Amino acid sequence: MRIGMLTGGGDCPGLNAVIRAVVRKGEEHYGDQFVGFMDGWRGVVDNITMPLDWERCRDIISLGGTILGTSRTNPYKLEGGVDKVLATLKDQQIEALITIGGDDTLGVANKLMAEGVQVVGVPKTIDNDLSATEVTFGFHTAVQVATDAIDRLRTTAESHSRVMVCEVMGRHAGWISVYSGIAGGAVDILIPEEPFDVASVCENVKALVSKGRHAAVVVVAEGATPGEGSFSVASSEVDQFGHVRLGGIANLLATEIERHTGIETRVAILGHVQRGGSPTAFDRVLATRFGIGAIDAVHNDGFGTMVAIQADTIVRVPLNEAVSQPKLVPHEFYEEVAKPLFG
Ligand code: F6P
Repeated sequence: MRIGMLTGGGDCPGLNAVIRAVVRKGEEHYGDQFVGFMDGWRGVVDNITMPLDWERCRDIISLGGTILGTSRTNPYKLEGGVDKVLATLKDQQIEALITIGGDDTLGVANKLMAEGVQVVGVPKTIDNDLSATEVTFGFHTAVQVATDAIDRLRTTAESHSRVMVCEVMGRHAGWISVYSGIAGGAVDILIPEEPFDVASVCENVKALVSKGRHAAVVVVAEGATPGEGSFSVASSEVDQFGHVRLGGIANLLATEIERHTGIETRVAILGHVQRGGSPTAFDRVLATRFGIGAIDAVHNDGFGTMVAIQADTIVRVPLNEAVSQPKLVPHEFYEEVAKPLFG
């Protein structure tokens, strides 16, 4: 078959491992040919491609980012965007399209099914916020990067008797925050799912200091918001999928902590450091399993599905179900596993 492939949305470690697995198994086992669409849906809209074969995929399993490039282009938000997508697929004689992305990219793929496009989806996001799969590749790497950063912040915080506020990614879901916060022994962990109370964060900081410790690391997800009565957060510009560009809650929080506790408080915003660099071994293997699952789905009646992992088994879920529900940190998990360790 002649198969197109694209990566959309924010990049994440492990994308190249998926691409490699798809191409290797596709060429060797099924005799497929591949066309790489550049920069997510933008490449399909504008018919920008790159050759994609076994040779191009050599030595990329350990490489972060995506050799295909990515963007947050939404064809449904562009004048004539969908018609252009269909024209490109015809021009390139594409029989199936493997789309690797998060809820936005897969949402577009799902809609294109109605236009007769044969699609298979692969979930991707460091945020780990897709309900249909127990885990997404990239998450493990991001948590490790954040945990390493917290460990480093702790030693410098101890030297100076400071509070450090470490901001991690996570727009709607606080998985990176809660995992790295637990792993890094944070004094408090703030997530988008649970509006926070500054007074309570300060109590936890003071409780730690009163026990004779002089360093406290607070981990905050970029999408965490103060509850009523705390302070207000300004909104900023949105992308084609309507997502606000976040980053900076840590600065506001640090000012408040310093004001209420009198302890010098500094900030580290990890930002895209969490998305860059080499995937962990776990993510390379998970991504490879997803890639194999995707090319098998193309050849075994899997159109309209997304590959997922459930109970350590690669399964297929209908695309429309895969993107309908975000996976958020459950209140019970936060209350029972994270909170008892605060302070
Ligand atoms: O969705 C993944 C993610 O890393 C979010 O955690 C973050 O809010 C967003 O992407 C940042 O996107 P961009 O790279 O477009 O600024």
